[in-house]
Amino acid sequence: MTVERSKADLCAWRMEAIRRIEADYNRSADTHLIRVDLPRYPGITLYLKDESSHPTGSLKHRLARSLFLYALCNGWIGPDTCVIESSSGSTAVSEAYFAKMLGLRFIAVVPASTAAPKLDAIRFHGGEIHAVDDPRTVYDVSHRLAAETGGHYLDQFTYAERATDWRGNNNIAESIFAQMSAEEYPVPAWIVCGAGTGGTSATIGRYIAYQRHGTRLCVADPVHSVFHRHFADRQALSLPEGCGSCIEGIGRPRVEPSFIPSVIDRMIAVEDAASIGAMRALSARLGRRVGGSTGTNLIACATLIAEMAEAGQRGSVVTLLCDGGERYGCTYYDDAWLEARGIDWRPHAAQMTAILASA
Ligand SMILES: Cc1ncc(COP(=O)(O)O)c(C=O)c1O
Repeated sequence: MTVERSKADLCAWRMEAIRRIEADYNRSADTHLIRVDLPRYPGITLYLKDESSHPTGSLKHRLARSLFLYALCNGWIGPDTCVIESSSGSTAVSEAYFAKMLGLRFIAVVPASTAAPKLDAIRFHGGEIHAVDDPRTVYDVSHRLAAETGGHYLDQFTYAERATDWRGNNNIAESIFAQMSAEEYPVPAWIVCGAGTGGTSATIGRYIAYQRHGTRLCVADPVHSVFHRHFADRQALSLPEGCGSCIEGIGRPRVEPSFIPSVIDRMIAVEDAASIGAMRALSARLGRRVGGSTGTNLIACATLIAEMAEAGQRGSVVTLLCDGGERYGCTYYDDAWLEARGIDWRPHAAQMTAILASA
């Protein structure tokens, strides 16, 4: 039953909603930048932007905040709005957090294969799960649920690049450059990230251009994703067979509206086994578990660092630690789960362990 509310009530509700989000932001500290020395590559240093330290455990905390503010300020969300999102999990966890803060119903449309701990995290923040067998149907199902509930589809894939302030406002790029400012090589030679919506790479690429930095942007993409194919050939718009990567959060079967190839300097395609091997090696080096997409980023970093060393170049390379590994205990950290999928990660782990060796 919808409640008749006056314009003044709605306006007051919205102001309070925005105040709560800004207050939450004001109480939050920025995420850390972890330095990783590489004795094997003198003069080259790797840095990890640790997005797992956000209150909801991933880089998607920033995006969820931006998407809620964007929808509130567009007048798309009110006190009775059911909020819907299509997500591989991380975004839905963060959006459920903000929906709960505003007292709103939240439905996450997720692939049925999503890791159980992620579903638990969505439910922990009061979110409802609507699982779909075919990940390619998440968009249509989200639109249908929005129509049925009279709610609003936040739609990260369309609005990620629009909702995030790429010129500053402490976006992830501004935070990285500020935290690099006292390092030997404060302007990174490369920043490496992945693409799910494409919002993070769009924000970083635009910020680099706007600030006129010499830094180049590299996007690491699972082999079974369309993004690196579209980067090479703009006619490649979707994968007929769907996206066969098991790395959650990155790689897509279709080119998403928030993916902006023109801000990207290079893309590197990475096998899932390599991503998981690198993820395991980095977890051992840091003494705590990281997520799969961080492994994908690291493989691309290793390629760029080897090329820099080959060219006698010194400098810094920054990448994202997108989320913690706690959510992947029953997948990427379960050897039987990996074996059952024929994912031969150990040779890649050994190779990355040598690269990351601290002595
Ligand atoms: C764990 C993880 N890493 C990386 C990304 C990619 O971020 P973006 O959607 O900004 O391209 C995502 C996106 O969902 C993610 O969940």
